[in-house]
Amino acid sequence: MIRFIENYSLLPHNTFRVKANAKYFFEFTELEEIEIFLQSNKTWKDENIMMLGEGSNILFIKDYNGLVIHPNIRGVQLVKEDRQNMWMEVGAGENWDEFVQYCVDTELGGIENLSFIPGAVGAAPVQNIGAYGQEVANVVTKVKGYDLYNQRFVEYSNEECQFSYRNSTFKSKLKNQFIILSVVFRLEKFPEFNLNYKKLEQKVTEHGEINLQNIRQAVINIRTEKLPDVNAIGSAGSFFKNLVVDVATAENIETEYKEMPNFKADEGKVKLAAGWLIEKAGWKGFREGDLGVHEKQALVIVNFGNATGIEIYNLSEKIKKSVFKKFGVELEREVNCV
Ligand code: EPU
Repeated sequence: MIRFIENYSLLPHNTFRVKANAKYFFEFTELEEIEIFLQSNKTWKDENIMMLGEGSNILFIKDYNGLVIHPNIRGVQLVKEDRQNMWMEVGAGENWDEFVQYCVDTELGGIENLSFIPGAVGAAPVQNIGAYGQEVANVVTKVKGYDLYNQRFVEYSNEECQFSYRNSTFKSKLKNQFIILSVVFRLEKFPEFNLNYKKLEQKVTEHGEINLQNIRQAVINIRTEKLPDVNAIGSAGSFFKNLVVDVATAENIETEYKEMPNFKADEGKVKLAAGWLIEKAGWKGFREGDLGVHEKQALVIVNFGNATGIEIYNLSEKIKKSVFKKFGVELEREVNCV
């Protein structure tokens, strides 16, 4: 099914719930429809182009003057199996958390810690979603899609995806150029559970036995305690990334703030909790009209009603500036601002 609409409201397509219109909106449900569409609409090359899943990691600052492509490919298919693993190919338009639930129900491990993350399956590899010690990069074996530049279907191996912390080639080099249509995941029949995140281990034990169902439930409980429900309040999860800095920078802050949480990162670097920095800069629970910073997790900016995209963006700039002034470090946005 193809839907092509001019001057289309993106309000139902962004979890921040800001008003913005797209000049053109194109949705399709069958693989071959992307080629049919591009061949019959020769002017698409003159337009700005962006991909949109469920809009849970995006902030529209103004109307989008171009073509929004919404791949709504469905389906979950077993493509390969051996004694240890099952490889499942999932359509980009499937809901991420429904797929996690499906895996947990069928006793397949590898993504249970990533329970309750809003968004579409096709968006998961783009920003390499991660939580409670798991990252989707650990289970993605292939990303299949359509290369707009060369106009052909292409497959990327895990290595070619160039995954790193909240990043991939789809967010950098191939941004707005590659339409993810499906993702292949390698899941484990006999999973090794990852309970490195202290609070998770604690919560799971409260539920009883350590198994997939209980881990999923514990993650859901932690997330609902700490993060706003995107169905009730506008937000896009963490607005900023955690920071990776050199030891000297971390020690400099630590001389004044002994209690600063910090974690070991690659290459002898240190990861700083951006939420803590923002909280210390005085923003946690900030509210002005419909605009705010979540009271339980300072990394999350919220829209309580009719905040506009530009207001949210301006608040994020103010937060960046004040964190820089206080700590001398520069926050980087995690949310895609358009
Ligand atoms: N912290 C504060 N104040 C805050 C928030 C956090 O002091 O307002 C401190 C916590 O006490 C803790 C540390 O910062 O010592 C880390 O906090 P937390 O474990 O809550 O996780 P996070 O680093 O703030 C990241 C992800 C989340 C993910 C959690 C759990 C990023 C940008 N965010 O947050 O992902 O759920 O870890 O693994 O990496 C998302 O990307 O949208 C998201 C919610």
